[in-house]
Amino acid sequence: MDSLNIQNKPITYAYIETTNYCNLECSFCNRPEVIGALQHMPLAKFKDMMERIKHHPIKEAKLMGMGEPLLHPQFDEICKIFKEYFPEAFLIVATNCQYPIRPGSKMRTKFENTMKYVDLLYLSIDGYKERYERDRAPAKWSKLETFLEDFQDLNRHTCRVTCNYVVNPANIEDIEIINEVVVKKYDLEELRLNIAQDWSEDKSMPGGYSLDQIDYLKSWGDNVKGKPEWDFSDCFWVQEGIYTTVEGNVKMCCMNTGAEPFGNIFETSIDEIRKTKNYQKVKTGCSTNNPTSHCKNCSYKELVPLLSKIKK
Ligand SMILES: C[S@@+](CC[C@H](N)C(=O)[O-])C[C@H]1O[C@@H](n2cnc3c(N)ncnc32)[C@H](O)[C@@H]1O
Ligand code: SF4
Repeated sequence: MDSLNIQNKPITYAYIETTNYCNLECSFCNRPEVIGALQHMPLAKFKDMMERIKHHPIKEAKLMGMGEPLLHPQFDEICKIFKEYFPEAFLIVATNCQYPIRPGSKMRTKFENTMKYVDLLYLSIDGYKERYERDRAPAKWSKLETFLEDFQDLNRHTCRVTCNYVVNPANIEDIEIINEVVVKKYDLEELRLNIAQDWSEDKSMPGGYSLDQIDYLKSWGDNVKGKPEWDFSDCFWVQEGIYTTVEGNVKMCCMNTGAEPFGNIFETSIDEIRKTKNYQKVKTGCSTNNPTSHCKNCSYKELVPLLSKIKK
């Protein structure tokens, strides 16, 4: 492994995939293009990973990736272990809600236990009835309704819960409905509107928003997430983030999950991986606002023109 004698900042943000199993094939998700053999990370391996990053001051983490986290049979244990290593870190998890959490079921126990350790849970719901089913096939609206009903009297512990809505030009009309029938009805903290990004390496984000739609999104103010001003030199991933797949492969960010890994955390130390020439090339490219080909379809950059219209 070619490495450089370079000082990196400590890692403060970690995006860790512990399963690549999923029960859906969402139209906007590039999971099928990037995952390898289906697997859940064994607890012993997850602990090993924690040992390998524990010297970094992680302040925020997402335990998700190209899969449905709650399908991991011991996801509650995964979250518990994470918090044992990083008690001060703010932990975020997203879930697609397409599984039963019936009272008395094992799944409910796992879900409720998970909420003891998670600080912020995103319920991923982006459309009403047939549009929800269209974009999140083979999801069923009726399954979601059952999930939300069963969710109502579940112990949330201290976990905050929001709805994460991936916006595209064909589901804008459902934003208000979801705010009423999900966010308000089930006492969620917020409706987070995330403009759909294209996470593939070789494709650009589809545009297609009309001026009326942009005006409408503007009316949602701070509910619309993302940065209206951003350049490569602002990229925090290259400075203090890591993205790891269920195999332990280290990539730069969650925007380019199809890229070749810089190394594997179970084979090489994370600090060595971050010193490799390949890693440093991407980092220097961004830091000097002269991105390498790795970043050519960065969604942060691609969304700036649209977000600057919506958020200014
Ligand atoms: C990749 S998913 C993994 C967790 C889980 N399977 C889910 O769907 O919630 C993590 C989050 O990213 C969102 N997401 C997926 N594809 C996206 C895209 N192209 N642009 C923006 N957000 C996306 C999902 O809606 C979800 O809230
Ligand atoms: S967005 Fe989540 S639920 Fe949908 S396919 Fe991707 S990982 Fe699965």
